[in-house]
Amino acid sequence: MSVPCSLSARFKGSFAYFTVKDRLPQILTKVIDTVHRTKSAFLEEYGEEGIEAEKKALAAFSKLRNELHTDKPLLLLMDNLPDTELWNQYLEHQQSLLSENDQPSWFKSPWLYVECYMYRRIHEGIVLSPPLCSFDVFKEVKNESFFQSQQAIIALCTYLQELAKKIKDVGEEQLKEEFFKLLQVSLWGNKCDLSISAGQDNSQKSSPLASLTDLQSCILVNDTDHLWTVLSHGMKMRSSQASVSRVDIVLDNAGFELVTDLILADFLLASKLATEIHFHGKSIPWYVSDTTKSDFQWTIQQLRAANHRWMSKCGSNWDSNLKKEVWLYHDHLFWTLPHEFCKVAQVAPDLYTELQKSDLILFKGDLNYRKLTGDRKWDFTVPFSQALNRFHPAPLCSIRTLKADIQVGLKCGQGEQLTSSEPTWMISGQYGVIQFSALI
Ligand code: F6P
Ligand code: MG
Repeated sequence: MSVPCSLSARFKGSFAYFTVKDRLPQILTKVIDTVHRTKSAFLEEYGEEGIEAEKKALAAFSKLRNELHTDKPLLLLMDNLPDTELWNQYLEHQQSLLSENDQPSWFKSPWLYVECYMYRRIHEGIVLSPPLCSFDVFKEVKNESFFQSQQAIIALCTYLQELAKKIKDVGEEQLKEEFFKLLQVSLWGNKCDLSISAGQDNSQKSSPLASLTDLQSCILVNDTDHLWTVLSHGMKMRSSQASVSRVDIVLDNAGFELVTDLILADFLLASKLATEIHFHGKSIPWYVSDTTKSDFQWTIQQLRAANHRWMSKCGSNWDSNLKKEVWLYHDHLFWTLPHEFCKVAQVAPDLYTELQKSDLILFKGDLNYRKLTGDRKWDFTVPFSQALNRFHPAPLCSIRTLKADIQVGLKCGQGEQLTSSEPTWMISGQYGVIQFSALI
């Protein structure tokens, strides 16, 4: 099957071009600033060795920013981590696609690749600056964004606990309605990512529940009915056979979005629409606000310790879900490789086998959408299942607000109409999709 070319900064004026030219250097500048500001903490913790490490990391990041600015060739990674070889092979593969005199570089290579590469090089800079190896350069902004969303988090936790009290008596129609509601909350939670805002405050200030009706017209593809069919069918089958119904959530951002995902996961268990939830996070700091294991645990502990009855109830319930292993957290290194998802079976067969055990996989966020569809110049009307390019471990659904100029599965003329009425519809985060594919 032939596929269109990749989005890339070589297309001047595209969002990829703007990102590589302006947004990525801005993020690197913030990283440099964070490391610089943490100097005294490094000194306190590690003494002079900490100061030396800080200098080394800063030098690595300044060099990286310069390479980006001047469109230098991409370099092999020099650390020795479990994924280093895969990254270096990927670079060699990119090289093999070019003529002999050409080299992969920031403004010429696929956008998805160079953007992922920047985050991996940031990680390399930290790893090669011991004893800072486990320092997360984005931790501070992720935590701040959680606190800035406090009121919205309280509103959601309160709503969930009130729903939990009556859930046993709720009929099928109302259950469906609640599911629709919490799915939309999780969708709009994806607006709050800190990569699009280059680390600036992008938190949720008020309860999202009140604005769901107004936002419905901004959901360009809404396959919620299909999801309901998959989940409720599983629930009915189980009542006769006592089996497992597994939902996987490939997480995106920490902060408010993560809380919306945990709320949805809690509801899926409480309503018996699922019996097991598997969360997939990132094994290294990624795209500023993506969830790592430490963010996941920190968030649940913050809720548990909160000075609010329903927040802390949510935190302790979620802690106990993890202990009972009805919630499981995984962080495979594949999620922080530059590969599109149609390559999972080949690059990470163990992960593919694991995903095949799922009854439904929910992919949160914009970057996951780009990786599902290969970050290519697809026409708006190409079916989602075609853009997945044979990636079908299980029924799957993308829940994403649009923050990159790629969208498939639209009706004829829908994309063109949006472009003429609202030129920034693909990158503003104001529109979303709940896009399902059942094909296996
Ligand atoms: O910077 C590019 C980008 O991939 C955008 O497409 C998006 O704004 C962001 O980074 C990641 O978004 P999300 O957190 O929704 O994956
Ligand atoms: Mg993200």
